[in-house]
Amino acid sequence: MGLPELNRRTFFKGAGALAATAVGAQLLVGCNASKVRGYGGSPRALPIPPVELGVREGNKVHFTLVAQAGDTQILPDVTTHTWGFNGTHLGPTLVMKSGDEVSVDVTNGLDEMTTVHWHGMKLPAVADGGPHSPIGAGQVWSPEWTVANEAATLWYHPHTHGLTGLHAYRGLAGMIIVEDEAATALDLPQDYGVDDIPLVLMDHRFLEDGSLDEEDLPDLGLLGDTPTVNGITNAHFAASTRRVRFRLLNGSNMRFFNMAFSDGRQFQVIASDTGLLDSPYEMSNLAIGPGERWEILVDLEPGEDVTLESVGFADNFGVPDDEFVPDFGMGDSFQLLTITGPAEDAATAPALPGLLVKSTVPDIIDAPERSFVLNTFSINDQQMDMQRVDVIIDHAEPEIWKVTNDNSDWPHNFHIHDARFKVVSFEGTDVELFNEGWKDTVGLPPGATATLAVEFGHYPDPTWPYMYHCHMLYHEDQGMMGQFVIVNPGDKPAVHLGSGAAAAGHEH
Ligand code: C2O
Ligand code: CU
Ligand code: CU
Repeated sequence: MGLPELNRRTFFKGAGALAATAVGAQLLVGCNASKVRGYGGSPRALPIPPVELGVREGNKVHFTLVAQAGDTQILPDVTTHTWGFNGTHLGPTLVMKSGDEVSVDVTNGLDEMTTVHWHGMKLPAVADGGPHSPIGAGQVWSPEWTVANEAATLWYHPHTHGLTGLHAYRGLAGMIIVEDEAATALDLPQDYGVDDIPLVLMDHRFLEDGSLDEEDLPDLGLLGDTPTVNGITNAHFAASTRRVRFRLLNGSNMRFFNMAFSDGRQFQVIASDTGLLDSPYEMSNLAIGPGERWEILVDLEPGEDVTLESVGFADNFGVPDDEFVPDFGMGDSFQLLTITGPAEDAATAPALPGLLVKSTVPDIIDAPERSFVLNTFSINDQQMDMQRVDVIIDHAEPEIWKVTNDNSDWPHNFHIHDARFKVVSFEGTDVELFNEGWKDTVGLPPGATATLAVEFGHYPDPTWPYMYHCHMLYHEDQGMMGQFVIVNPGDKPAVHLGSGAAAAGHEH
């Protein structure tokens, strides 16, 4: 039927209805069907990343992570060489409590350098694990910090200069659950792996021999055509309770998912990137871009079947639909997780808490304002330079960051380290994104300007920079990243930054 000649975006445009016939949609996803190997096959039980509580003594908790390589079955009965932490693919879910004094030994058991960054965490820059903190093959890196974050779903992944995307794509990514007393006291599902379920969303491409296709596509980098949840395709979750909390993490390099259930049912959004929402929001679809997290609650009837899907963005995320624009996959529909409801005798779900957390907003009256203009692979016309400080913050107060996607035909997003922010305005686009709550990463359709009220962790240190960047990892790796330092009033950044300072013989 001449399908390959059709523009894929055109074909899927407004085709939300196709989602209802997800099997049909699957077959059509990606024009290059020969590369979508084994995406069908029989469903396998959703793997739950092992929980890692660390070794605890009072509020001191020690974690051990080993980055390693190995063989994994992402596709059924196909062996793929992958990377993982404490295993062959992905990493354990680290559980920490607000106020914990955390130490981690990260051993690099790979045969090349990597780094590990704690995405969403407020912490000293020396512990942040950015590109200035390389861990050579066979080396151990031992950061320490006190958990200042409130209850939230965070994550960890490499931040290797120019190679973040590839390292994450190979499987170096894991979740962090931060707990606090107020959140634990809420009547929310919180039995990990039972009714509190982590979902690490990614996408990959495979070569005929089952290995990962690691070729960067022009403009699209490692955009995949085969979605995975917790490291496998075609995952199935058999619920044992009527209410399930899913912690969604988009760990993909380049893909924006538009989450919905196959029957269009409503679900409750309870948390954004960096914490609980003030109160639950009822939604029927929810965008999640690379790096972002959302927590949702869904109620299930005994014995029913429903599928968690990514339905294409009806508006193509504001990306123009023509042959000169790369296909960012905004129209693609995927079946992500089939779910069956609990047994007939499962207890009825309790009433939803009306309030989750006390509403707070950063005080931005008189706050300094900065603007960041994203265009192709640059921010404010500059590309990442490890020895250039782009922003100096010499105070502890919040700032207003105005972030613009200046491309007319590319999506971007924007992530800030050591920070959480609220989106106080969102303009320049007709695309409506749900931007409630504390976030650390915000999606930016073409033309969009997001005004952010940003609260930073205050750990003045002139030597170690933090990063801000587009979290579409190909963009980041191509240089769409800048550095900021937080210093005491009047202080200047060090001449040599980060590990460069050590090499230059400076103490930090
Ligand atoms: Cu997810 Cu700079 O990080
Ligand atoms: Cu980060
Ligand atoms: Cu970008």
